[in-house]
Amino acid sequence: MKHKIDFILNNEKITHEVEPNRTLLSVLREDFDLTGAKEGCGLGECGACTVLLNGKPVNSCLLLAVEADGQDILTIEGLSSGDTLDDLQISFIENGALQCGYCTPGMVITAKALLDENPHPTEDEVKHAISGNLCRCTGYQKIVKAIMTVAEKDSAQ
Ligand code: FES
Ligand code: FES
Repeated sequence: MKHKIDFILNNEKITHEVEPNRTLLSVLREDFDLTGAKEGCGLGECGACTVLLNGKPVNSCLLLAVEADGQDILTIEGLSSGDTLDDLQISFIENGALQCGYCTPGMVITAKALLDENPHPTEDEVKHAISGNLCRCTGYQKIVKAIMTVAEKDSAQ
C-alpha cells in the first residue's frame, strides 16, 4: 500500500505516493529523475547519497521516503538556478576538485550546509564537515581548497 507524502523538493511543493519501504534516495532517483545523489555503499558510510533535510546533510540511502513527509529536501539539482551554478559548484570545477565525480554531489551539498551554518570555517572545520563523505580519487586537498576558496571569497566581501 502506498503512502501520500507532501514535502518541499528543491523549493517546490510536491505531493507524491510511495511504498513505505522505499528509501528517499531511490524515490529521488527513480521517481523524480534527480540522479545527482548517488548510491555508493547503501549503508550510511560513504556520503555519496547526501541531500539536505531542513538544511542538514543526511544520507538519503538510510532515510525512508515517508520520513520526508512535511520536510524540506534540497538535492544538488536544487543548488543551481537554471544554467547558473552555485559558487561551490564553480569552485569545485575551477579548483579541479573532482575526478570521476561520483562523490561530488554529496561533497558539494555537505559543503553547502556547512557554509550556510558557518560561512567562514577554518580548514579543520571543513575537513571535519566532509569527514562523512568519501572520495576515492582526489586525495581531498583540492576539495578542501574549493570549499575554502568560497569561504574566503565571502569573507573578503
Ligand atoms: S550510499 Fe548512502 S552513505 Fe553511501
Ligand atoms: S572524484 Fe571520484 S570519488 Fe571523488
